[in-house]
Amino acid sequence: MPRAIISPSVLASDFGQLNAECKRMMKNGAEWLHMDVMDGHFVPNITMGAPILSCVSKGVPGIFMDCHMMVAQPEKWVDDICDAGGALYCFHIEATADPVSLIHKIHEKKMKAGVAISPDTPSTAISDEVAHAADMLLVMTVYPGRGGQKFLERCVPKVAELRARFPDKDIEVDGGVGPNTVGMCADAGSNVIVAGTAIFASQDPGQVIEILRSTVEL
Ligand code: DX5
Ligand code: ZN
Repeated sequence: MPRAIISPSVLASDFGQLNAECKRMMKNGAEWLHMDVMDGHFVPNITMGAPILSCVSKGVPGIFMDCHMMVAQPEKWVDDICDAGGALYCFHIEATADPVSLIHKIHEKKMKAGVAISPDTPSTAISDEVAHAADMLLVMTVYPGRGGQKFLERCVPKVAELRARFPDKDIEVDGGVGPNTVGMCADAGSNVIVAGTAIFASQDPGQVIEILRSTVEL
């Protein structure tokens, strides 16, 4: 399995202190920062877009922004997110008719490409062609749209199905993941762990990050 990567979701942070919160997470051992971009169409909420991500990339040297694009037209934002310093552009398979072309477009902009599936989307929605073209697959373990939801255990088998098909691919889980639920995800084969509430609500985020990592590395 590929290496463990912990990606704290800043959705659970104080947006008024976003740069400081990102730096704090990197000091506490986070490899990536998970940036939840919501457009009010693909999901009801609106969070942040390229202008805010640009401030973060300028203000936080060395940050790797794992951009989770919960947007209705993922083709539309590739250039802006690249210019804003995005390192990984993860779109939802439900939101595009031509995922392979979109992956090529993301790669042309020198970003890594991720493909996400929502809880009601089967793992088979990610074809072999799409998965091989992509750098990362994301299995949502809550319905996209907001943080702090309960982990949906029924999504875990999809991680195992994708790991069986793609032994070397990064597979991310996102939603309700914390020390109590990461074990199931890791056992199923996930190596990229997103956690918002579990990390930001803790007095000791470094310890939570370490628990998440050591569980994946077990
Ligand atoms: C949900 C977002 C998640 C969420 C995770 O739409 O994609 O990244 O912020 O937060 P927690 O870990 O609190 O469920
Ligand atoms: Zn997310």
